[in-house]
Amino acid sequence: MAERRDVVIIGAGAAGMMCAIAAGRRGRRVLVLDHARAPGEKIRISGGGRCNFTNIHAGPKNFLSANPHFAKSALARYTPRDFLDLVERHRIPWHEKTLGQLFCDNSAKDIIAMLLAEMKAAGAELRLSTPVASVEHDGHAFRVVTEHGAVEAASLVIATGGKSIPKMGATGFAYRIAEQFALPVTETRAGLVPLTLDPATLAAHEGLPGVSVDVVARHGRTEFREAALFTHRGLSGPAILQISSYWREGEEIALHIRPDVDFAAVIAAARKENGRQAVQTVLADHMPKKLAQLLVTELGIDGPLAEQPGRRIEALVQKLRDWRFRPPGSEGYRTAEVTLGGVDTAALDSRSMAAKAVSGLYFIGEAVDVTGWLGGYNFQWAWASGHAAGEDA
Ligand code: FDA
Repeated sequence: MAERRDVVIIGAGAAGMMCAIAAGRRGRRVLVLDHARAPGEKIRISGGGRCNFTNIHAGPKNFLSANPHFAKSALARYTPRDFLDLVERHRIPWHEKTLGQLFCDNSAKDIIAMLLAEMKAAGAELRLSTPVASVEHDGHAFRVVTEHGAVEAASLVIATGGKSIPKMGATGFAYRIAEQFALPVTETRAGLVPLTLDPATLAAHEGLPGVSVDVVARHGRTEFREAALFTHRGLSGPAILQISSYWREGEEIALHIRPDVDFAAVIAAARKENGRQAVQTVLADHMPKKLAQLLVTELGIDGPLAEQPGRRIEALVQKLRDWRFRPPGSEGYRTAEVTLGGVDTAALDSRSMAAKAVSGLYFIGEAVDVTGWLGGYNFQWAWASGHAAGEDA
């Protein structure tokens, strides 16, 4: 005989746990299954161990999806303030780091402990180390078969995330379930991911790895002002991770180095003041020395400032404003923070996350084709979509 519950949730990550809390509070008998040995592993490693758990400015504009309107309903009904209220009720110390990003003062483990305590209070049960062998549906109830037996429930919530960081157990399970129930899945790819550079560029960048600089990173009309980091493989840092979600293989990105500095004016003033100094010395007042050196070398600039022809200085200023790269690839799911694409929102009800064509089936969190920017937006989507499904399942 199979066990019976009202709601089975597969995946004890951010979205699954929030869904369990909301459904449990409504008196639903909830069971959460996860193949991992611990819940919320991505929460634990997030934000450098301090979990950037939300962003106070989170709104639909901060998300990528084939349907940019889809996220509106869930985000409006469970806001960053709602999550912050929960954090404060549990007396978890937090701070705003930058750009509305809220982090734990101490540890991401505080967030996991809070969610587990809330699940317990809501009567939701958690079963770990439980891989799911199959999911069946007889038109009325779902039957979830695990190595430890079968569970039946009228509602099944898929909260197994995307494909990023396979080392941590990411499986693409949600897409397989979507396929099983004939629900469309949009193209999936790595997002918030470092970009690679070709060997010749990397060789020219020798010495740069580790150098970070404030930039505007651009792709088409999309731009982000944050830090970029040169690495042994290519480019990383928040500005690059942000722009990577908009970039496609073979396309260009452009960097505007130190957008707050008017380099044409700075160089003109330096020439007047002391024309004998080297160009890189002038640049190095505004960026790491190694980067200043690389830029002048790449443009063949040598000798004192006063001896540089105007066109060379113009080329330098232009490069600082619009330094183009054509990354051949990204580091892929191995290091990507998120998966872009996923279960097609056209197949889901935006209020409840329920599949329109399969009664009782829900998809939440990263599994869905809604992907946030870097900065706490992805967790806010996990909380909001989890809450929306938990209110309905
Ligand atoms: P999530 O991946 O969290 O959970 C899925 C769960 O399902 C896991 O517990 C997994 O074990 C389980 N599962 C998978 N397949 C299964 C199967 N076949 N059977 C049973 N269980 C299965 N976002 C943010 O807003 N702020 C931040 O600071 C960060 N930082 C960050 C750092 C790093 C290194 C990464 C990789 C990602 C982030 N993110 C982030 C993104 C954020 O972690 C991510 O968007 C959410 O965790 C998604 O939550 P979900 O619950 O949808 O999936």
